[in-house]
Amino acid sequence: MLKGKQIVLGVTGGIAAYKAVELLRLLTKAGAHVHVIMTRAACEFVTPLTFQTLSMNPVMTSLFNLIAEREIGHISLADRADLFIIAPATANIIGKLAGGIADDMLTTTVMATKAKVLIAPAMNVNMYTNPVYRDNEERLRRLGYLFVPPEKGELACGWEGEGKLATPESIFEEAVAALTPKALAGLTVMVTAGPTREEIDPVRFISNHSSGKMGYALAMAARRRGSRVILVSGPVALAAPAGVELVSVESAAEMRAAVMARAGDCSVVIKAAAVADYRPIERNGAKIKKQAAELTLQLVRNPDILAELGRLERRPFLVGFAAETNNLEAMATKKLKEKNLDMIVANDVTQADAGFNVDTNRAWLLFRDGSRVECPLMSKHELAAVILEHIAAELAKA
Ligand code: CTP
Repeated sequence: MLKGKQIVLGVTGGIAAYKAVELLRLLTKAGAHVHVIMTRAACEFVTPLTFQTLSMNPVMTSLFNLIAEREIGHISLADRADLFIIAPATANIIGKLAGGIADDMLTTTVMATKAKVLIAPAMNVNMYTNPVYRDNEERLRRLGYLFVPPEKGELACGWEGEGKLATPESIFEEAVAALTPKALAGLTVMVTAGPTREEIDPVRFISNHSSGKMGYALAMAARRRGSRVILVSGPVALAAPAGVELVSVESAAEMRAAVMARAGDCSVVIKAAAVADYRPIERNGAKIKKQAAELTLQLVRNPDILAELGRLERRPFLVGFAAETNNLEAMATKKLKEKNLDMIVANDVTQADAGFNVDTNRAWLLFRDGSRVECPLMSKHELAAVILEHIAAELAKA
């Protein structure tokens, strides 16, 4: 996701400095080359050796380090960086940046860069709400600096409130977003995800193996590309992605109502949800007791939400999914035509490394004009990026 990107990670002196180690791991795992700069105070909390070992690059701690200045230097690092992240960022470093003070390796390098700077503050709640601090943050925001706001919670100083460093995962997400071109800016994208649940009685339901991972990855990929994202989700065990409008539903009927009510606002609808095709003809008000050796459940067809979207007069760009166990391409092409879609993502759910409940997927993207693209085995996040890139390219043609 961040393959080949040059990222400078600035670590300043707060108790949350240890969380920057986890952030560094996420960045390097995603393929970024990370160069760490630590302030003197940061070295009191975590040793440079930890960052050096994990980044496989020398850690800079001093402006006047002869080796660093000869081999890299604050200017060349500032020039090479695709992105700067400061995490944790103390009130002190934010004050210095806002005031134009450059008196150590980190502040001089930030001042010399033209790259985007992403700041993740962490401090005591009273410092965070102090008008001096607020003023500094506002000024930096106006100047184009990006912020990942801290979370509310128990702070190391004993106080409760805002000031806790955002999680490494959310800082990572904002870093990826900062580096993703905004190909869908100004558009609204709706994604459906997860399974639906069709109730039989108060304790039982019919559902399927969908984990929601593909849909959630698509929602994040759309948001990274600058669009407003509405995520209509069935019951899943995933956290709501930051910056996405989550609409939680249970049954196919609820999903249909949520989707149809919002479709008019959307330029793109991606239907990754595994919608139950049938529901019990009626829901038993009381728990069904066991009696005879056999029990027959009568089911009735659910409305096909995607097909209904395909019949709209002013139809958004429509992307369907086809989960198949045989005749993948023929089945998916039939659905593309019958449901009047622009694109369909076809995957073979009999493979252990694709489809339901795993982190990877392989798929064919089939288009309205008959063209097709093969996507070999990749993570669902990578596949989501490929799908969104194709959607952006198709929209650009129209
Ligand atoms: N879909 C939908 N509403 C339904 C059923 C499916 O919107 N009631 C959407 C899914 O979200 C997916 C696409 O239709 O994008 C294909 O779903 P799939 O279950 O694979 O195919 P079906 O059309 O239901 O056909 P079949 O079950 O016969 O394979």
